Amino acid sequence: MADEKCPLPHADGQVGLQALQALWQKRSPLGALEVMQSEVGRAFQLNLPGFRPAVLAGPVTNRHLLVTGRDQLLWRTEADPVTRLLRHGVLVEDGASHDYLRAQMDPVLQKPQVAPHVPQMWQYTDAITRHWRDGDTLDMLDEMRRVALLILIGTLFQVDFRPDLERLWQPILKMLRYIAPGLWVVWPGMPRPGYQRSLQAVDDYLYQIIRDRRTDVAQGYVGEDLLTRLVQNPDMSDDLIRDQLLTMLIAGHDTSTALFAWMLYLLGRHPAAMAQVRAEVDAVVGRQPPTLAQLGDLAYLDLVIKETLRLYPPIHVGNRRAPVDLTVAGYHIPAGTRIMYSIYLSHRDAEYWPDPAAFQPERFAHAERGQRPAFAYVPFGGGPRNCIGAAYAQIEAKVVFARLLQQFDLTLTGPPVHAYMGATLEPRPGVFMHIRRR
Ligand code: HEM
Repeated sequence: MADEKCPLPHADGQVGLQALQALWQKRSPLGALEVMQSEVGRAFQLNLPGFRPAVLAGPVTNRHLLVTGRDQLLWRTEADPVTRLLRHGVLVEDGASHDYLRAQMDPVLQKPQVAPHVPQMWQYTDAITRHWRDGDTLDMLDEMRRVALLILIGTLFQVDFRPDLERLWQPILKMLRYIAPGLWVVWPGMPRPGYQRSLQAVDDYLYQIIRDRRTDVAQGYVGEDLLTRLVQNPDMSDDLIRDQLLTMLIAGHDTSTALFAWMLYLLGRHPAAMAQVRAEVDAVVGRQPPTLAQLGDLAYLDLVIKETLRLYPPIHVGNRRAPVDLTVAGYHIPAGTRIMYSIYLSHRDAEYWPDPAAFQPERFAHAERGQRPAFAYVPFGGGPRNCIGAAYAQIEAKVVFARLLQQFDLTLTGPPVHAYMGATLEPRPGVFMHIRRR
């Protein structure tokens, strides 16, 4: 730990060069960040033209940023595209406004409230896989996005998205490109062609389903879903509801898409693990659709989910702002600094994860789990502002994979992938798999 008031270290010329080489080899800035962590340490400052964030990783600073020191930090940055897009969504609010919105939505996303959605989760999976043909080679990044979109909107809003999926596909992708890291960091006013039209299309859709649900409720509709709950709250305007729906739509489907695509990629690369998951699904679930009661017995699938989230956390970094001068783990962080806590680097720290780049689901088995400190593993963040959809996402992953693997043999065929920093961490250029119905 550094002395009080010690400034964050940054890379000297030699390390900078190594970082550039890693960036080139891994085709991702993540390679450069890994070099920084191994050569400079768990806390450092990036020193790029116009972009000088503090990057922190590891259990000590994770705990500080997520729990003990969280009240000193701001989540919202007005000029960031994610704030412009989500406006007053729970993800980009601070203080009482955040806490109020979170309290409105938390109850709907608790495990007992998610459980009744299990049948819709496998039915919407089927709605996509129904179109798969024996011998097809498909990009699972796209297919899993379709599945995740139908499930999210179908369960949380109780709206069937199938009729609008193809029409809104490009506008949704456009929004994800809008919030992905990019040149806007140093050039906030950069032109974003086509974005306004896409935003309008998605907004039109969201405002329409809000109006429709208001009409349904006035006519006696009763529902426990998120949309109905928000519509029934007299303090929530259409604008504020739109902000929450869009937040859930983006945060809730793009993350699951990335998780499912990475799981398929890793299982495709490790046929023995794929065979083990399939054997478990056959033994526990058989040929009938999965039920909630069976999910707890899919123990190996659970390890695969955890290990995938470790290696490729869909949200690989959390962004904060220091409103005043701060001291974190002994380092001085001046007011105004952008702080990024790196989930990716935390999950690849060799001190806590032997052979960190290796896919080893067993490392999450019971006996080994106890050896790691809390906050070394933070795929869903932590503390009071952890992921509101964590229970939902884990149930969804099990249902989707049980359903996929009981019906299909999937073999990886495409080129090697690299981790692309989009709105989430995505396997690019895609996860191409050969399909055979079992
Ligand atoms: C594999 C799936 C998912 C992963 C890995 C994931 C990851 C995360 C992480 C790391 C955070 C905290 C970010 C930070 O500290 O800055 C977060 C927050 C959040 N997530 Fe997720 N998430 C997933 C699924 C979902 C789902 C399904 C939903 C909605 C149903 C959702 C909605 C949210 C929201 C609204 C927040 C902000 C919570 C707040 O600030 O109070 N996420 N998620």
